[in-house]
Amino acid sequence: MLKLWRSYPVITKHVSDADISRDVIIPSARQGLTEAIAVLGLNRSDYVGIPDYIGHCVIDFIGRKATPVPVRFLPQKNTSAILIYDQWGWQKTSSARLELKRRYPNARVIWDRVDSLPLSFEDEAINGENDADIQLFSLSKTLGAGGGGLVWLSKKGWLQHAAYSDFSLVEKLKDILNDKNTNKQFNHKIDRFIRNECICDTPTLDEWLKNINVNAATEKENKLRRERINIFDREIVKQLPEWMQDQITDNTLPAPGIFPLIVNGDAERIATEISVKFSIEVLSLYHFNFNDSYLNPDWKEVVAIPLHSEITTALLASVVKYIKKL
Ligand SMILES: Cc1ncc(COP(=O)(O)O)c(C=O)c1O
Repeated sequence: MLKLWRSYPVITKHVSDADISRDVIIPSARQGLTEAIAVLGLNRSDYVGIPDYIGHCVIDFIGRKATPVPVRFLPQKNTSAILIYDQWGWQKTSSARLELKRRYPNARVIWDRVDSLPLSFEDEAINGENDADIQLFSLSKTLGAGGGGLVWLSKKGWLQHAAYSDFSLVEKLKDILNDKNTNKQFNHKIDRFIRNECICDTPTLDEWLKNINVNAATEKENKLRRERINIFDREIVKQLPEWMQDQITDNTLPAPGIFPLIVNGDAERIATEISVKFSIEVLSLYHFNFNDSYLNPDWKEVVAIPLHSEITTALLASVVKYIKKL
């Protein structure tokens, strides 16, 4: 069964071109979220705006230091920061970020770009420099790297791995994992907790980083995602709002990772049918914000179709053909 996000890391032939420094790749983007809160100096009494429908890991990793509050409940005066998320890599326009700054002029902006796959992470972060105080990217969500997060601090550049505040804790946790004297069940539990929730030890990521040029892998997968988006023909694409159609035509923008399909009828039944027929994970319980606004969302339940390159273009073409007959 093909998953909604990649199961395997992107592979490229080894190239000697300059690459992103390994010193700036932290264990995961979720840890980058907690780190962003720490860098901004926020604590429990600080409200951090979050979208209505957001995964547990955002709430959890912000909530470790500050208080996450859905954007619609945010007080205009006492809001310390707002997390904006470009769902599945669909990037809202700069006017959406301006609207946010106008309504909350004193709030810091954390731009969660974990599902966006640009042509180059560094160039993209530099482009977004004036739009947010902090930008977050994820190598696991975009390249299937088994971990890996990047945190861009406005006017400072990438957060360095060694400057990351959990660094010494991570080293201590690794010692616990390596202690062979702990009993098996405890070891299993702690292993799951640490690896899943903290991702302190990233063997798959470390191995991948040894053999890969991240920039080359990024550019390659960006193009493959775009190839797949273009399989969705005009008839389907024209149902999307203009800002999304613009992202499809503008190859310089990051490539989204999932296509949000609006279906007539029982979304859950259709998603199950597609999953069974094509053996791909297709979910129907996702709410997607079709508005080019972080503040006034237009949530619709959609069927989510993956666009990463583990799904072949031939298979995706069959899925699209099937969808058009619905
Ligand atoms: C919106 C959002 N931001 C950040 C993260 C963290 O990304 P990572 O899995 O790379 O830690 C997640 C993870 O599910 C997410 O859904």
